[in-house]
Amino acid sequence: MNAQTAPGSPLPVVIDTDPGIDDMLALFLALASPELDVRGVTVSYGNTVVENAYRNAVEIMRRAGKRITLGVGARRPLKRPLATAHETHGDSGLGYAALPPAGVILDFVKSLERLLADQRQPVTLVTLGPVTSLALALRSDPDLVRAKVARHVAMIGNIAAQGNTTRYAEFNAWCDPEALDLVLKAELPTEMVGLDVTRQALLAPQEITRLGTAGAPQARWIQDALRFYMEFHKRAEGLDGCIVNDVLPIAALVKPAALTFEEQRLVVDLEEGDHRGHTRPDPQGARVRVATAVDMGPVRSLLSERVFRWAARPAAAPSRSQEARA
Ligand code: RIB
Ligand code: CA
Repeated sequence: MNAQTAPGSPLPVVIDTDPGIDDMLALFLALASPELDVRGVTVSYGNTVVENAYRNAVEIMRRAGKRITLGVGARRPLKRPLATAHETHGDSGLGYAALPPAGVILDFVKSLERLLADQRQPVTLVTLGPVTSLALALRSDPDLVRAKVARHVAMIGNIAAQGNTTRYAEFNAWCDPEALDLVLKAELPTEMVGLDVTRQALLAPQEITRLGTAGAPQARWIQDALRFYMEFHKRAEGLDGCIVNDVLPIAALVKPAALTFEEQRLVVDLEEGDHRGHTRPDPQGARVRVATAVDMGPVRSLLSERVFRWAARPAAAPSRSQEARA
């Protein structure tokens, strides 16, 4: 039980995400988990531009059959030039998956700060992309963020594990190291779920191929996204399969025993070059709970039962009215 919730009541969660293929699986898992009360989702630049991330999040919610408050966080880093991971996630952000065109984002769409302000009780904030959205909220109203964010769980960084953007840095940290520096120094209760554990969240090729044989539209759509992601992993790291980093923080909210944490003091390197975004221990650093070990058993079960099995169910027969309209 988390400090925020009574025994058995769903955990209020806000997710800031840059969908993104592994973000897509994480969102489907979160939306399919009755243990979580997803109070809202904000999208950020990162794997793709924010307009695509918004379009992708709308399509993911539509396919999940959920109506969740959707806001927009950061459109670009605090000061670094915008760089997206189109080679990893495709120009759309979701690989080969079919998508409607992305539109412009209307100005009235809620920011993360606004979405947090609307919460009646403190939430667990999960960030699955760069932490620029959170940094902007902290810069604008730190007291609001402290009042509404009981706990910040971030897929970000790496300690002993090799980076995936440079040999020292993980993508979300590399995108906006100044934002991560600001967030670390705020010392919200922050938990870092980095590459040291997420590199073990490897989906095997046969798990992806199996989705395509289900003959179900949702499974085929998810497979179209994962196929692109798997091709990237083969090219970039010679891996068979693909690493679904963002599933881990969500699964660990449902199954806390899946992750083991250690309290560490961390800093993030701000210089340019290979060390940009390198998160490393430093006695003068900020206090962070760092995930140091993972039991992938519960994670795989949740992903298999709540996402892949759900996606593989046969398409619902058209209703009589739909037949009549056909
Ligand atoms: O480094 C992996 C992280 O960067 C994941 O969150 C992935 O979606 C990208 O955002
Ligand atoms: Ca992500």
